[in-house]
Amino acid sequence: MGLSTAALLSNAGYKVYLLDINHVRLDVIKEGRSFFYEKGIDPLLEEAVEKKVLIPTDSYESSVPNSSIVFSCVGTPDNPDGSSNLNYVFSSAEQASKFMRPGSIFVQKSTVPVGTGAVIEKQFAKTGKKLEYVSNPEFLREGTAITDSLWFDRVVVGGSEKLACQRVINLYKQIEKKQENIAAIAGLKHDHDGGKYFTTNRNSAELIKVTANAFLALKISFANSIAKLADHTGADVVEVMDAVGADKRIGRAFLSAGRGYGGGCFPKDVSGLICSASEHGVDLQIMTAASDLNETMPGYIANKAQEVLGGLKKKKVTVLGLSFKEGTSDARRSPGVKLANILAKNGAIVSTYDPQANSEASQDLRKGIKIHHDLRDSLEDAQAVFITTEWPEFFKLNPSEYNNLMAGNVFVDSVNGFDMKTINDAGLKYVGVGRG
Ligand code: UDX
Repeated sequence: MGLSTAALLSNAGYKVYLLDINHVRLDVIKEGRSFFYEKGIDPLLEEAVEKKVLIPTDSYESSVPNSSIVFSCVGTPDNPDGSSNLNYVFSSAEQASKFMRPGSIFVQKSTVPVGTGAVIEKQFAKTGKKLEYVSNPEFLREGTAITDSLWFDRVVVGGSEKLACQRVINLYKQIEKKQENIAAIAGLKHDHDGGKYFTTNRNSAELIKVTANAFLALKISFANSIAKLADHTGADVVEVMDAVGADKRIGRAFLSAGRGYGGGCFPKDVSGLICSASEHGVDLQIMTAASDLNETMPGYIANKAQEVLGGLKKKKVTVLGLSFKEGTSDARRSPGVKLANILAKNGAIVSTYDPQANSEASQDLRKGIKIHHDLRDSLEDAQAVFITTEWPEFFKLNPSEYNNLMAGNVFVDSVNGFDMKTINDAGLKYVGVGRG
């Protein structure tokens, strides 16, 4: 989020200091590159670093006093009890406030529980300087971060000072003005128009972000619950959700059943919301149910495969996809990694392959799981293949080639992305999630 924001603002005409304490990352950025895979970001970084409008630094002292606006884009991982760990949020705000000029604005983009801004404003008051605080949650998705930011659905700014909120909105308006230029540099195509601006109070802005993510997670878990019922009744959840989602009041997005949600946001944002609600005496049972259901999905799929394979012990299987979704190298809380580990734990001999996430996933995979660097190699002798992300490469390989490369013919489509008939016609045995 920080890197995307910096890449966009520096290409929209602003001078941006990019402050991080991680020197390995800073060294990569100084070369005009990203330290993770994200479509379109590298050309933007290269352009801005070369023009010296993007200045990577590890020093608050040499960057913050020169800035009229400071964005906080730090991580908010979860604590073991599921609550949000706000150590980075508070410590970076405190550090920045020491060096911020009076009248400058601190923009909170990190996902924080409602009420966090109030605590930071109190912290700011102790400095004796007039510092503005604006909550400006970020909605970009990994894999489409630049497109999502250039053609946004909405920008939310929350704060008590109207002028400060307007100054933050002006930054986004400037990005909008430069939209086509930035897209040309990034090699991205025009997406959609009509993004809206919402100015709210600080607490509403904080709650909007977590509510949006929670609702999307809820939709996915709802689809997965219906998928389980479809499996018992011979209905096809894809057909069901296509028709249900055609109702404009519902919408088709995030109703794709499969191996469940993962990544650095949904799992921790859902647990963070549950914990923050309970601190206020509110029991968000609905989100607990969504989270619990999500946890069951990789095991549910392994179980379905086990029935078709006649057990997992000593079965050679291949898991394709280790990132938490296509288009990113991020393997945090990856359903593919979970599935591979469950299969291995139950005695299967597991091979894996991912076009971008092999190295990030390696630390989370159980001992003995083999990581391949070529799709075809990974399939050799497999009795079953498990597709866990929608990387285009997996769809480009002809179903008959899957069949030729594999020793068996079980094709577990845990993202429900393939056409069932095409797979079965190629002599493979299609196993989906909720597809009868
Ligand atoms: C999410 C939010 O979408 C974004 O607005 C926020 O700023 C950050 O968190 P991200 O984590 O990048 O973005 O991924 P997203 O595309 O939302 O997918 C999350 C997970 O849900 C992935 O594992 C994805 O595969 C899964 N998913 C998504 C489903 O299982 N079914 C669906 O129908 C959609």
